[in-house]
Amino acid sequence: MPAEKSIYDPNPAISQNAYISSFEEYQKFYQESLDNPAEFWSRVAKQFHWETPADPEKFLKYNFNISKGPISIKWMEGASTNLCYNLLDRNVRNGLGDQIAYYWEGNHPDDYSRGLTYRKLLEEVCRFANVLKDHGIRKGDRVSIYMPMILELPIAMLACARIGAVHSIVFAGFSPDSLAERMFDCKAKLLITADGAWRGEKPLYLKEMGHSVKKCIVVSHLKRVTPCPLDHVEEEIPWTDDRDYWWHEEMEDKEPACYPEWMDAEDPLFMLYTSGSTGKPKGVLHTTAGYLLYAATTFKIVFDYKPGDIYWCTADVGWITGHTYVVYGPLANGATSVIFEGTPFFPGNDRYWSVIDKYKVTQFYTAPTAIRALMKFGEGPVLKHNLSGLKVLGSVGEPINPEAWLWYYKYIGKEQCSIVDTFWQTETGGHVITPLPGATPMKPGSASSPFFGVKPTLLDECGIEIKGEGEGYLVFSQPWPGNDAPLYNNHETFRGHLLLQVPQASTALARVSHEVWTAFHCDFKRARRDADGYLWITGRVDDMLNVSGHLMSTAEVESVLTEHPRVAESAVVSRPHPVKGECLYCFITPNENEVFDQKLISDLKKMVRERIGPFAMPDVIQNAPGLPKTRSGKIMRRVLRKIAVNDRNVGDTSTLADEQIVEQLFANRPVEA
Ligand code: WTA
Repeated sequence: MPAEKSIYDPNPAISQNAYISSFEEYQKFYQESLDNPAEFWSRVAKQFHWETPADPEKFLKYNFNISKGPISIKWMEGASTNLCYNLLDRNVRNGLGDQIAYYWEGNHPDDYSRGLTYRKLLEEVCRFANVLKDHGIRKGDRVSIYMPMILELPIAMLACARIGAVHSIVFAGFSPDSLAERMFDCKAKLLITADGAWRGEKPLYLKEMGHSVKKCIVVSHLKRVTPCPLDHVEEEIPWTDDRDYWWHEEMEDKEPACYPEWMDAEDPLFMLYTSGSTGKPKGVLHTTAGYLLYAATTFKIVFDYKPGDIYWCTADVGWITGHTYVVYGPLANGATSVIFEGTPFFPGNDRYWSVIDKYKVTQFYTAPTAIRALMKFGEGPVLKHNLSGLKVLGSVGEPINPEAWLWYYKYIGKEQCSIVDTFWQTETGGHVITPLPGATPMKPGSASSPFFGVKPTLLDECGIEIKGEGEGYLVFSQPWPGNDAPLYNNHETFRGHLLLQVPQASTALARVSHEVWTAFHCDFKRARRDADGYLWITGRVDDMLNVSGHLMSTAEVESVLTEHPRVAESAVVSRPHPVKGECLYCFITPNENEVFDQKLISDLKKMVRERIGPFAMPDVIQNAPGLPKTRSGKIMRRVLRKIAVNDRNVGDTSTLADEQIVEQLFANRPVEA
């Protein structure tokens, strides 16, 4: 499908009623947010409850200049509040007690559906908060959560927030090994999990970890769906007495009330691990006050959420998108959302559209990889359902290609909806570059303009700011409330320092004044500003890749592959993939006297699956008797990326120690690649 137009104006019917109804209005607020951030965000803060109000003089204090002392950002110093109180008690007090907070849609359309009102959610959260307290969990303790998309997941998170415990959610698609690594790193005192999840035809068992979990609370989920294909479910799940407790038994006698723990503005709220370029996952820490302001405001403005709307974000709560836009942002606005356990393809390829129709969804938020996967089935499955309630369609996780954008716009949005291509990262807490539905003329593939308070700056190779049109390193030169706190356990490499460590960017950044700061410590970006001032995310600087919206580093996969006793060396590159966006292409050098065979390939795939998770499964594993290295021993990855796509245009290879190797690797490409 060709891109027909390069720019699409918002539907006037959306603009008329939108919070921000024109680009001029956006620009006015945007300028205010940069000129006087403290004043701008203190107006936002008024809607929330502060047990101790913020001192207006100290609303924002920051230092981005390393020569003047350590980099620091403090929002609302001295204020105290509780996220759970603001999300639940405040909304109940404001008359939303009987409003649905979440509809739960199970894997199978015939599973029982569940709706939870704000009042009921508050009670359940309080009861579970009391369970946690009975198990000795106190303010500041870390609690790991490894759960499917069931209502106990937000209940568990909010119960932690209520008592000041720091939740660390591990996406249930990660393997038990990955879970153990993250639990160890954050020193978790307790794990909350479930017996399993339903995904399409099969149950997926979650509770198989024999790792050093001290205490574990388990939701019995597999058998409660109706009609339950019980013959599929194993009777017994692994169980250790005095360590494992059933959620429903623990909840039985608990009071549905629990006094919230008042937290300081910069007290930690949660940790979330994200891939770092070194291969070891990094714990990103978000704190209380700023995160609340930013999650609430971006949700309200970017999705233009109004009372009565029904919002659905398909992201798993195990990722930052689920934290901010399934839990904290929607609940802070008293919104009604859908939580869905299943997949877009079960029982048919129209499942997403049928769920939108069933709940009369008004805002839908998903990933380009899902759109591309569903586009393949054409319009047929879409036309079976009434999608006329939709107003705003969101995209997140990776750049959306114009073809997918147009399909989304035409066939899902019927050319009536606004598409918000939201660019952000775990570290940014919420959307940082995004169109606004009533205000921003849309360009397919462009994340468009910065959100309030966000000041993107482009730097050229010499570290000079590019004003106007151009492409360069994307950095941010002002803090916004969603900024993360120092990397957990890693304070010495805080923020500003980190940007100097991204090797390809360091020459540029070393030359600029230290006043420039970037959020992108793990995942450094380049971007282009076009003649109209629109921003286009063009790629990353380091060796990170994004498979179906799951961010990972090539180093992370390499370190698993080289653990195999028959493997001497490995190099992993990303290759474009029509549905997943990117996929993994792995080059393996076996040890001397070892053969490269099918068994090795399947062993390696299994290892990656077990150690990282099924989504990290390599698409291609190729035999590489040698790797293209420079004389100093650095692997020339750009050559490997060319081999992966069978493009002979490899460019200059004269600095390679052995140029022959390139030809050999082309010859070795497996047939299926
Ligand atoms: C990518 C997910 C282009 C990007 C919220 C980023 C995007 C990484 C977009 C962060 C978008 C996310 N356009 N790229 N609209 N949204 N990305 O930390 O590479 O899981 O750096 O946060 O996803 O992934 P993370």
